[in-house]
Amino acid sequence: MDTRELLEGRRTQLIAMRRDFHAHPELAFEEHRTAERVAAHLASLGIEVHTGIGGTGVVGVISGGDGGEAIGLRADMDALSITERNEFPHRSRHPGRMHACGHDGHTTMLLAAAEALAVRRNFRGTVYLIFQPAEEGEGGARAMIEDGLLDRFPMEAVFGMHNWPGLEAGHFAVHRGPVMACADRFDIEVRGHGAHGAMPHLGVDPVLAGAALVQALQSVASRTVDPLDSIVVSVTQFHAGEAYNVIPDRAQLCGTVRAFRPEIQERVEATMQRLCAGVAAAFGASVHFEYRRGYPPTINDLSAAALCASVAEDVVGSQGVHLQFRPSMGAEDFAYFLMERPGAYVWLGNGPGEGGCTLHNPHYDFNDEVLLTGARYWVRLAETRLPADRP
Ligand code: NI
Repeated sequence: MDTRELLEGRRTQLIAMRRDFHAHPELAFEEHRTAERVAAHLASLGIEVHTGIGGTGVVGVISGGDGGEAIGLRADMDALSITERNEFPHRSRHPGRMHACGHDGHTTMLLAAAEALAVRRNFRGTVYLIFQPAEEGEGGARAMIEDGLLDRFPMEAVFGMHNWPGLEAGHFAVHRGPVMACADRFDIEVRGHGAHGAMPHLGVDPVLAGAALVQALQSVASRTVDPLDSIVVSVTQFHAGEAYNVIPDRAQLCGTVRAFRPEIQERVEATMQRLCAGVAAAFGASVHFEYRRGYPPTINDLSAAALCASVAEDVVGSQGVHLQFRPSMGAEDFAYFLMERPGAYVWLGNGPGEGGCTLHNPHYDFNDEVLLTGARYWVRLAETRLPADRP
């Protein structure tokens, strides 16, 4: 049966399923209801299901005949700590929890593809459907890998997809190389010497030293990294003091670093360390600097990206596939899969980000019009990467 026809017949149910996920968002590693529904749906399609991988992760296994290679298709299931401000009937039932990144749509698209793949069995090899928990900051991909995902389900390649507001609905952006940046974190404590606010000469002011440090840190991007390399160094927190008339004895600065290359992460860390020590010393203060690696950069494998681009073209035509779309300084834990296996992570247009329909915004909603397009892409990708007629 033709994939498009098969999926069209499911349109109403798929939209209802997506909206049900939307109305019942669950946070990182708490995706119990979602995982249960995913597992139950896969089982109802006759697909082998494994649950509890990396916490609440679920893997479905579809085999298409003996031999052949294996690939993983991944969807994320978690929501964000945001109170939804939409008024439509499928809005979140839970204050403080919202599918504001479209993982409800990602989960639904992969379930839709699962059905078409299972019904058609038009491939040779194995497709692993990876439903991962905790993409939003908690590293659910890493948790699944540490729980043996790739040993239990050996795969040659792995693929991901994320909706993208601002890209025309149903279009694809495929990056040859970096798609998203790393997300490192830093904590700085400037230690001075407390004093009366009226007698600053008797202390060492960590607020002043901290303020100078915030400015100095802006030189990391502007003066120590090649201008053709993109990086961000943002100080996002500055905590100090509790009274009008007291110079505190310490100040806390925290923030984030985004970059696309490991060499740059190393250079940034070393430069920040030097600036902290130097600026603090210049003010007679001391400093404690801590730099922690977060999600690695998401870098597509070149041949996997080429495959994804041609598959996307098959699905929506070449005018709907963008190969020069700008990468994002945001981060994505699909990066952990790409560090283990070659693969590619593509963006599916969610339409214009009007009225706050942008990622992580309380007015966001996944665009149901692209559900079938995303599902067709998954099916086509699996059937192209694992051709049925390969000897
Ligand atoms: Ni997301």
